[in-house]
Amino acid sequence: MPCPSSPILFLALCSTRQEARKEERMPGYRVPSDYSQEPPRHPSLRINAKEPFNAEPLRCNLLESYITTVDMFYKRNHGPIPLVDNIDRYRVVINGLIENSREFSMAEIRSLPKYNVTATLQCAGNRRTAMSKVKTVKGVGWDVCALGNAVWGGAKLSDVLEWIGIPKLTAVTSLGGKHVEFVSVDQCKEEKGGPYKASIPLSQATNPLADVLLAYEMNGEVLNRDHGYPLRVIVPGVIGARSVKWLDCINIIEEESQGFFMQKDYKMFPPSVNWDNIVWSSRRPQMDFPVQSAICSLEDVDVVKQGKVDVAANVQPESVEEIWNLRGVLNTSWHRVRVRNASLPIASSNL
Ligand code: MTE
Repeated sequence: MPCPSSPILFLALCSTRQEARKEERMPGYRVPSDYSQEPPRHPSLRINAKEPFNAEPLRCNLLESYITTVDMFYKRNHGPIPLVDNIDRYRVVINGLIENSREFSMAEIRSLPKYNVTATLQCAGNRRTAMSKVKTVKGVGWDVCALGNAVWGGAKLSDVLEWIGIPKLTAVTSLGGKHVEFVSVDQCKEEKGGPYKASIPLSQATNPLADVLLAYEMNGEVLNRDHGYPLRVIVPGVIGARSVKWLDCINIIEEESQGFFMQKDYKMFPPSVNWDNIVWSSRRPQMDFPVQSAICSLEDVDVVKQGKVDVAANVQPESVEEIWNLRGVLNTSWHRVRVRNASLPIASSNL
């Protein structure tokens, strides 16, 4: 059914439609309103919040394998974990600024070419605990392991969109759609009990090289409940918050998603901004993740034998003397550059 041209009317119809569909699809999809039906989890995970469940592996466990096992993969949730009672009734719906909306069953998604994409997912709040030591910040405290590396298996979003008539490398649909919003079924208190939502630009979604997936497998296994069963989005290279789990609906929209996690969270502000002077609309939602590095082979306070060095040469010493070697290879020491204040004469420049 073609969508009306007024964005407000469209949004109102869309959410009514979503409500109606959700009702209609029960009991295929079940969203518990409490935490009595949570899935089992590995006992060695470090739990940062129990309800909703947020946990990360220990540093030593993260180091055990390049591909993080499903058990040891961090879990980041904002509500109780949904359940699917009847996978045959599951449908993901594509709505919005497109000629015709369409529903896809899991069998249809699986009939598209399957891609395995190795991608790291990292929560934007990774290492938040360290920031709180300087001045308290709001949010679940994470040590350094709110990240994992998995092989995600699924259909490319660009193929799914092409199937419904949006060609590859499209930035704007004929009806003016520029963003792709992913809507889940979980109930988040930040959304006043509504579902988790996020969006990415249409140009990224329709670019096959961006490897955005509708994933149904993780490390060769069917996605488990904690990680988004039956279908989740994987947006490589972007903060984990945009990789929406338990996908219900995909909306092609004009502006980026107005959901809480796009507009009132996961944005970068300078240190001068506080809870009294914050203007959320002054910043774009955070998408790309800057490079972060953390030492996982040691705890924050640890004991090592004197003179011992990391045989993998993973250390990044302050000075080159500590890793000097006669062939001059693997210089991982800090790279220093001399900078000076442009307004000062060279003689009084700072390093
Ligand atoms: N999707 C839904 N539906 N609900 C959520 O709470 N959390 C997001 C994202 N997708 C979330 C979601 C955040 S903040 C992160 S970092 C990743 O999922 C975590 O994915 P994981 O739990 O599979 O590691």
